[in-house]
Amino acid sequence: MTEPLFSLAGVSKRYGDFPALDDVSLTIAPGERVVLIGPSGAGKSTLLGLLNGTLAPSQGEVRALGRALDGLSPKERRAIQRRIGTIYQQYQLVENLPVIHNVNAGHLGRWSLVKALLSLVWPLERERAEQALAQVGIAEKLYTRTSSLSGGQQQRVALARVLVQNPDAILADEPIASLDPERGREIMDLLVEISQTTGKTLVASLHAVEFTHSHFDRAIGLRGGRVLFDCPAEAVDEGMLGALYRIG
Ligand SMILES: Nc1ncnc2c1ncn2[C@@H]1O[C@H](COP(=O)(O)OP(=O)(O)OP(=O)(O)O)[C@@H](O)[C@H]1O
Ligand SMILES: [Mg+2]
Repeated sequence: MTEPLFSLAGVSKRYGDFPALDDVSLTIAPGERVVLIGPSGAGKSTLLGLLNGTLAPSQGEVRALGRALDGLSPKERRAIQRRIGTIYQQYQLVENLPVIHNVNAGHLGRWSLVKALLSLVWPLERERAEQALAQVGIAEKLYTRTSSLSGGQQQRVALARVLVQNPDAILADEPIASLDPERGREIMDLLVEISQTTGKTLVASLHAVEFTHSHFDRAIGLRGGRVLFDCPAEAVDEGMLGALYRIG
């Protein structure tokens, strides 16, 4: 059996006294496409934050890429985090810079400080940035000011940045929540295409449950910080969704 890319063993995360995640254990294999669904406050973003090491568990162990995240030196942690790319609902781009700078930010984990600073003045690696933008369908926007792009285009820039980063896994926290349905579908299609063609693991939290069957292998339903179901995506049915989103 191949080693899991991510694993959580008995993981809880509390904010103060509040249990955002409660005793969660799961593993994610390389190349899997996993959707996290569940009502607001279920713990989806918290789970993604634990997977990319931006949050530490209150209890239990999180492993990513074969290493326990607890107790890593800052340098070791950065080395792991470089191999995990994250996309957010709010694209986390520097809006007043041209697109190429935002795409090149995907290199930052690898570049020396001098090169990184230099790249702010003079965009480096134009070809790689151009190629990534072509892959996400906006090749012509290389020198456009990022703030003048539409939301869908900005999410494409965020995707291009992840392509340049070339991580082993892509985590996406509600990547389409700010987009209209058609732009949202385009981004979902792109995410899956990238994961399929490169073999990268994809873990996405989504409120748009209609993508569960069409875009994912596996679905994890979270409710109140606990895993309500964890099954093949195609097995998710209306009864399960009803129980997941029921009020009270
Ligand atoms: N920094 C924080 N401080 C205190 N409580 C927090 C913090 N972050 C999250 N929480 C709480 O933890 C719970 C889980 O939050 P989380 O953001 O993981 O949920 P979610 O499933 O991503 O929700 P949504 O669908 O609204 O994004 C919520 O009740 C939230 O209020
Ligand atoms: Mg969230």
